[in-house]
Amino acid sequence: MPIDLRSDTVTRPTAPMRHAIAAADVGDDHLDGDPTTRRLEARVAELLGKDAALFFPTGTMANLAAIMTHAAPGTEILVDADAHVVNLTGAGIALAGVQPRFVVPTSRIISAVDVRRAIRPPSRYSPRLSLLSVENTHNGAGGAITSLDELRAIAAVAREVGVPMHLDGARLWNVTAATGVPMSEYAACADTVMVSFSKGLGAPVGAALAGTSRLMDAAWNGRKRLGGGLRQSGIIAAGALFGIENHRDRLSIDHVNAARFADAVAGTGGARVVPPDTNIVMIDLPASLPAAEAARRAAERGLLVSVWTASRVRVVTHLDASADAVDEASRIMREVLERG
Ligand SMILES: Cc1ncc(COP(=O)(O)O)c(C=O)c1O
Repeated sequence: MPIDLRSDTVTRPTAPMRHAIAAADVGDDHLDGDPTTRRLEARVAELLGKDAALFFPTGTMANLAAIMTHAAPGTEILVDADAHVVNLTGAGIALAGVQPRFVVPTSRIISAVDVRRAIRPPSRYSPRLSLLSVENTHNGAGGAITSLDELRAIAAVAREVGVPMHLDGARLWNVTAATGVPMSEYAACADTVMVSFSKGLGAPVGAALAGTSRLMDAAWNGRKRLGGGLRQSGIIAAGALFGIENHRDRLSIDHVNAARFADAVAGTGGARVVPPDTNIVMIDLPASLPAAEAARRAAERGLLVSVWTASRVRVVTHLDASADAVDEASRIMREVLERG
């Protein structure tokens, strides 16, 4: 079996998680609420300090439903060009009828100053600004954390111009594991927050959107339009609940493994490693080694990594990658880089 560090989504449910899934109490969520899904939604709302939460099959769908909830067709949303919501969703925001206005980060991730710079005065020639969307951790920036202070400053800019803020917190669990600051503090900056269960928490599938009850009622309608009802969703919600209660505390292990991997690989063969804040390591390769070629050579040696751009590969640590496996992965990656 190769060491698979392409993503933290590759984990397989553990035996106790499978047991929890098999034993889940279920009902028709679309008619009168699936009991396990309701429990999951209540737990997520509690952790995020929001009135309500709504279960979604994927983070992609939850983010899109949030955009549809906040932003009318024909408006524009502020977002950075490397954000998952515009970069990796098959142009999904087109379904909401909105266009992106890109916030250009001066440094690794966007700041409040960058957001302010992207805002233009209202004009009859430009679409109305309807939403600001921020990603924390930021996947494309290598699992980068936006600090609570910076997020608050960004939220203040959104408030000043009168637009709501959505937080793509697919890996907000990792932010809290790394900083010790409760998720609810970050969530308080945003009107809606998406969290994902299928990444660091190791659940097979699922995400949730949280916000006020009024916004979640609207998002329920958005979810309906995007795919309908979820029926006995407790079968998958049970895996998410299990992940929340049992795998949150171990996320810092993934961060330690990622840091060790980054240290071991940094500088080898001219590669530049972005120092990881959390569980994602980006490796910028020398011009002599295209990313696809590096990934191919790593795969030949038993390590799977993602091709992120033509010159960048991504490595993600997770529940199914032990410290020993990550160390072996760094040995393989060094070999690939040294042989160029
Ligand atoms: C930052 C971010 N947001 C959203 C998503 C989408 O989640 P899903 O794969 O559940 O659709 C991902 C997936 O990798 C992500 O990294």
